[in-house]
Amino acid sequence: MQTMPIREKQTTRVAELLMCAPSAYDLLYEINAWMHLSDKPDKQLAWRQWEQLYHTLTEQIGIPVRLIEQASEAPDMVFTANAGLPLPGKQVVLSRFRHPERQVEEPYFEQWFREQGYTIHYMPRDCAFEGEGDAFLMGDLIVAGYRKRTDICAHRYLSQLTGLEVLSLELVDDRWYHLDTCFLPLTDRLVAYYPEAFDWYARRVIEQHFETIPVSPEEALRFACNSVVIGNHVVMPSGCPILRFYLEERGYTVHEVPMSEFIKSGGACKCLVLYLLGE
Ligand code: ARG
Repeated sequence: MQTMPIREKQTTRVAELLMCAPSAYDLLYEINAWMHLSDKPDKQLAWRQWEQLYHTLTEQIGIPVRLIEQASEAPDMVFTANAGLPLPGKQVVLSRFRHPERQVEEPYFEQWFREQGYTIHYMPRDCAFEGEGDAFLMGDLIVAGYRKRTDICAHRYLSQLTGLEVLSLELVDDRWYHLDTCFLPLTDRLVAYYPEAFDWYARRVIEQHFETIPVSPEEALRFACNSVVIGNHVVMPSGCPILRFYLEERGYTVHEVPMSEFIKSGGACKCLVLYLLGE
């Protein structure tokens, strides 16, 4: 494999976002602990919630948002965080979804990155990897979750490709099946996280590497960790006053968006957004 050492080791800058309007969003299968065919999302309400997120990001925060069209056979494609892991210099590691229900999204995301002129890196076959849902570039580290949706072999690949150290964190609870459901990077040094989602050793690793803000079980269940961070703005699912308080105390501007219809599928603000980096 050709390696691609990342030169800029300073704070990763998010230049724009990739989102997918929920034109074909639905709940047609159950692949995580949140999804129940007996409790489907209200599609009109989902549209309004998605639009509110979009407008908060584009108008109140002013970050550019790129759009990909939703494929009719891919009801979960709205969760663009799972498209892949963008790296500096217009490169991306494409996802290899665990479940066949989501594997149908891979060619659409691949085509989008290709059209934008990205260099695309592919995980080895049989090595599941769900993109930014399970991996964050934090300065000169990649912090990555494994076991539920991403295999540990993906971590080795990421480390070999980038020359960066990967902090591997084991996820132990089916409700927090992606790293972005329980771990929120605020800066390269500061994170909010829900400790019970991790095994004891991962908790220790997190505590050793970062300054941490713990998230309560109640707010973790409302997807508090699944927030979008753009500079000193945080867009979070509504109903998480404790985390909001801690963030405001540290000088963050917090925006709340209702996310009930996406939480039914196991996602919220961050899942609906992919961080695209500058050139
Ligand atoms: N229903 C989707 C799935 O199970 C939700 C994905 C949420 N995405 C995320 N980045 N956590 O794959």
